[in-house]
Amino acid sequence: MWQVSGAHGAIDPVRAVDAMLAYHDAGFFTWDLADHYGPAEDLIGDFRRRFAASRGAERLSEIQAFTKWVPYPGRMTRRTVEDAISVSRRRMGVDRLDLLQFHWWDYSDRGYLDALRHLADLREEGQIRHLALTNFDTERLRIIADDGIRVVSNQVQYSLIDRRPDARMAAFCGDHKITLLAYGTLLGGLLSEKYFGRPEPQRSELNTASLQKYKNMIDA
Ligand SMILES: NC(=O)c1ccc[n+]([C@@H]2O[C@H](COP(=O)([O-])OP(=O)(O)OC[C@H]3O[C@@H](n4cnc5c(N)ncnc54)[C@H](OP(=O)(O)O)[C@@H]3O)[C@@H](O)[C@H]2O)c1
Repeated sequence: MWQVSGAHGAIDPVRAVDAMLAYHDAGFFTWDLADHYGPAEDLIGDFRRRFAASRGAERLSEIQAFTKWVPYPGRMTRRTVEDAISVSRRRMGVDRLDLLQFHWWDYSDRGYLDALRHLADLREEGQIRHLALTNFDTERLRIIADDGIRVVSNQVQYSLIDRRPDARMAAFCGDHKITLLAYGTLLGGLLSEKYFGRPEPQRSELNTASLQKYKNMIDA
């Protein structure tokens, strides 16, 4: 749901939820969002309410939605962590997050371990079903595992162009039963028929945050 964040054009919330209902009917049951993807968490809340009204509350269990928590660096107290998770639960209209992906900006600040310990406690208490990471490197995956914190997955960029996870992360994750959840697999559409056999796109044609970001990846 990064594509509703605002960086890919304006989103009409009513039409967005119409589309989400149609996607569900077509068999797409799982939604990938984040606390900072604009209205994404609120759209899940609206979607669930309209889904329950039109298809019955008993079918809400068909829907899975996972979000990310990407905090500003700072002290990670139980209160800070629980408040952030409560905001996502309230916006999405769920008692328990199906999966929470945690990201941390600054490895020199070991506060990420405090945050993860509190998140693991919230998981034990039922506020989170599965705890996961996004954009962590292998060195930090090892520190987290050595600390006894269990995570189910790490979401990282992985494509024909960007194969960094092959170097060390894939083997580490295989050994530790951590699933790699890839993003950027189509480079936002740059790896598609649309650009096949065409000259390199000009910067002015790259009119979304994704196309700009993934063009930088190709150049790198
Ligand atoms: N954890 C993270 O840091 C992170 C980072 C980025 C993304 N994500 C998650 O991953 C999700 C997917 O994003 P992504 O960046 O990974 O996207 P992606 O899979 O690299 O690209 C998807 C885009 O490719 C285009 N596309 C797909 N098939 C196509 C075709 N046959 N021809 C032309 N274009 C085609 C579509 O763009 P159009 O709709 O514009 O046509 C589509 O939105 C996001 O919504 C977000 O939830 C997570």
